[in-house]
Amino acid sequence: MTSESPTPTDAADSAAGPPPECPAHALGPGGVHRLYGPGAADLRSLYETLREQHGPVAPVLLHDDVPMWVVLGHAENLQLVRSPTQFSRDSRIWTPLRDGAVKPDHPLMPHIAWQPICSHAEGDEHKRLRGAVNGAMTTIDFRSLRRHINRYSQMLVNRFCEEGEADLVGEFADHLPMAVMCELLGMAREYDDRIVHAARDMLKGTETAIASNQYIVDALGRLAAERRARPGEDLASYLITHPAGLTDEEVREHLRVVLIAAYEATANLLANALRMVLTDRRFRAKLNGGQLTVPEAVEQSLWDEPPFSTVFAYFAKQDTELGGQRIRRGDGLLFAPAPGNVDPRVRPDLTEGMQGNRSHLSFGGGPHECPGQDIGRAIADVGVDALLLRLPDVELACPAEELRWTESISSRHLVELPVVFEPREQQDVFQKPSLHALPRQRSVWEISTGDGRPSVPGSAAQPRPPVPVEPALPPEPVARGGAWQRLMRWWRGD
Ligand code: HEM
Repeated sequence: MTSESPTPTDAADSAAGPPPECPAHALGPGGVHRLYGPGAADLRSLYETLREQHGPVAPVLLHDDVPMWVVLGHAENLQLVRSPTQFSRDSRIWTPLRDGAVKPDHPLMPHIAWQPICSHAEGDEHKRLRGAVNGAMTTIDFRSLRRHINRYSQMLVNRFCEEGEADLVGEFADHLPMAVMCELLGMAREYDDRIVHAARDMLKGTETAIASNQYIVDALGRLAAERRARPGEDLASYLITHPAGLTDEEVREHLRVVLIAAYEATANLLANALRMVLTDRRFRAKLNGGQLTVPEAVEQSLWDEPPFSTVFAYFAKQDTELGGQRIRRGDGLLFAPAPGNVDPRVRPDLTEGMQGNRSHLSFGGGPHECPGQDIGRAIADVGVDALLLRLPDVELACPAEELRWTESISSRHLVELPVVFEPREQQDVFQKPSLHALPRQRSVWEISTGDGRPSVPGSAAQPRPPVPVEPALPPEPVARGGAWQRLMRWWRGD
């Protein structure tokens, strides 16, 4: 059975409604909800309204009132990503793009424009590109990776531990994934405050976004040229030398996808997991009982706050049906972990923890399922663990209700996470490895928080004078080498 609610194509064909700039109107032509503008300030509640009105798949409008479906149901999202014969990620078949309704200056163009990357490819081409990405990922030695994550965490904590206050978004969560990704890619030397600023600026889409994008593209271009000439043991080299034979353009574009998408998603995950550990009653209750595993907090955060709220997009290769809606060939559909993860059919009670259940949609599914999820999880697990070990008395410096987010269709980013703690000395980040040097994967975390409420609201937002830090870690590869090299790296504590 298919519903008679207006399809995205019908909505575009309808007579013009109120002007899009009018704040009083959340509805566009055909009475279809806009996913942008004043009516979409709270996307979570908008998704629930849409679920009530249309069921698991709803028609919506993107900027310029471009028609789209948003998939709200958990099962329907899985069906979307697992049906490559019906739905493709190649935007070139999208009707509004083909008929010119999507203009070149559309704000979502960076997501829409087709690129020679695995995310947009399908069939044999997807297998070839994804094969190179998977091949490069399998060279990663996770033991060594976790050491690097721990080292960079220590280095970042050293920058603020003597102050007794910090903003864990701006001073920790926004930095750690970039440091680790630069290390993994083989460009540890490029990691500094400037590249973090460039990535954030680019994602915010400010006036300087183009220059920031260029800064990152230049860094990746240098890396690709260096590794083409002299391959090493890093992700960039393995991508370049993979038998799939990626062209220079394909290498550059994949480095960019890996750096930026991985960075943004992991920074969001880390900030959300830290917020959850510091504020969530479910975890506080467990903490008061004495135990909370950090990986559980990370996994719960993946359910409640998917780092990508939606992924743009899948496109129907033929007329079909999804969630009771008639989908026409060329229609676009947003894969949407945010509403999918809170589908009442899989989570009737959102206050119930999801411990032990990893079937959330945050890493996608089907042929395009995220190949970097273990890296994202490792950064969040080790980063949160390392921070809590260094600052066991850390607590939020403002009421949880005062925390703010910036939100777009694709993601939700915590603006600040101000915390206070007892000032502590810096720690040597080059300590030799010892039995307990590293938090173990899936370790149990014990912390005593008391019922402490913030005592210094907003204090962490003050600009901090630069604190001298250790020199950046030498750009040694974390990819797997020979047994001897691995032993030496372990011995040196790399
Ligand atoms: C918390 C961290 C991360 C999250 C939440 C995340 C999420 C996602 C999602 C939702 C997709 C799209 C799946 C789909 O279209 O069905 C994706 C694809 C992808 N991710 Fe991640 N990701 C994360 C970290 C990473 C990392 C660390 C890397 C690389 C080191 C990475 C590399 C990729 C690539 C290359 C794709 C495209 C795969 C394809 O189209 O075949 N991601 N990710």
